Amino acid sequence: MNYNKKTVKDVDVKGKKVLLRCDFNVPLAKDGSGVITDDKRIRAALPTIQYLLENGAAVIACSHLGKPVASFDKWVKKQAEKGKDPATLTEDKWKKSLDALRMEPVAARLSELLGKPVVLADDVVGPDAVAKAAALKSGEIMLLQNTRFEKGETKGDPELAKKMADLAGADGVYVSDAFGAVHRAHASTAVVADYLPAVSGFLIQKELEIIGGALAAPKRPLVAILGGSKVSSKIGVINNLLEIADTIIIGGGMAYTFSAAKGGKIGDSLLEEDWKDYANEMVEKAAKKGVKLLLPVDTVIADKFAPDANSDVVKAGEIPDSWQGLDIGPETVKLYCDAVADAGTVIWNGPMGVFEFEKFAVGTKAVAEALSKTQAITIIGGGDSAAAVQQLGYADKMTHISTGGGASLEFMEGKELPGVACLLDA
Ligand code: 3PG
Repeated sequence: MNYNKKTVKDVDVKGKKVLLRCDFNVPLAKDGSGVITDDKRIRAALPTIQYLLENGAAVIACSHLGKPVASFDKWVKKQAEKGKDPATLTEDKWKKSLDALRMEPVAARLSELLGKPVVLADDVVGPDAVAKAAALKSGEIMLLQNTRFEKGETKGDPELAKKMADLAGADGVYVSDAFGAVHRAHASTAVVADYLPAVSGFLIQKELEIIGGALAAPKRPLVAILGGSKVSSKIGVINNLLEIADTIIIGGGMAYTFSAAKGGKIGDSLLEEDWKDYANEMVEKAAKKGVKLLLPVDTVIADKFAPDANSDVVKAGEIPDSWQGLDIGPETVKLYCDAVADAGTVIWNGPMGVFEFEKFAVGTKAVAEALSKTQAITIIGGGDSAAAVQQLGYADKMTHISTGGGASLEFMEGKELPGVACLLDA
């Protein structure tokens, strides 16, 4: 895939309306108060927004927020699948679930950060959005309602995409800065580019340059640290990185499937039985390719999955019955930190243990600290590892923390990203 894409700097936006797709899918407080608990994604879009406004564009921003279900019937089906009693699933409750994902909090925070009003539309392509977009002047910004309130959004409906494009008018421009959503072939992330000249914003440009650069021509040795609970969710990444990396380090819950596949005793640790053969294949493939594949040599075990569990350290593959591994052990920490120390580039995706529990956060903390000290280019995939680095206070020591969780994972898998593929080549 060509990552060399035209950017906002390659088009004239003066006096034009720009439909700007952002990833404002921010975490909201669980109490339903609408408080944004982390505004990183809104901040990450500011350079592009400010550039567009300063250069005379009228900006029609849009984003999804959460996973609203745009049809009542589908919502009932989904809730029933989650075990909810269908008799209690009223239309009122469905509407409340949508209300909780309206864009008001995002518009308010964006307005605070920009220091100027953000006009909020009551719909996505309905009469309010159309009227507000038509009235929008150069240097002004508006925000559409949650794009996923439209049924056609996640289906990539061309009619919806065309209506979105029409908001920007005949000489409009589409700018995408929604890196976190570039792996989605949705109406607002990809299909809309069929109707407007499409370029990237600065955030996508930066993500493509740094992650794309590390995958295409890394400063070596390239060390990939892969953690998290499931082998199944990381297979694509492991497979692709075996073609590129010099060293692959495995930690987190998925290490126990590798251990079980070698015949190790893993007690009650996480196991994906169906992925054991695959784990062995990966070990063989690494050996054939001359890629160093590091697996834990020891593990911190717990007598239950709880923050106050009793713990002990045992050799990998020697976990007693009814105990479970929740973190990498001290020898493994040393092994992994040594591997990181001499790296030219480190890509990290997924924690080393259950870092939400203080007692089992040691491995993840140690890796984060090692990354903060190395001279290597350090790239943190989004999601849990980004959260861990932030929580532990090392965020400003990393070269790059991706704003994309699923998107950065699919990027590392070598998959085509529809939200990037749709942009004009430079
Ligand atoms: C994310 O949070 O990873 C992006 O915003 C994409 O969200 P989605 O998984 O709901 O498509």
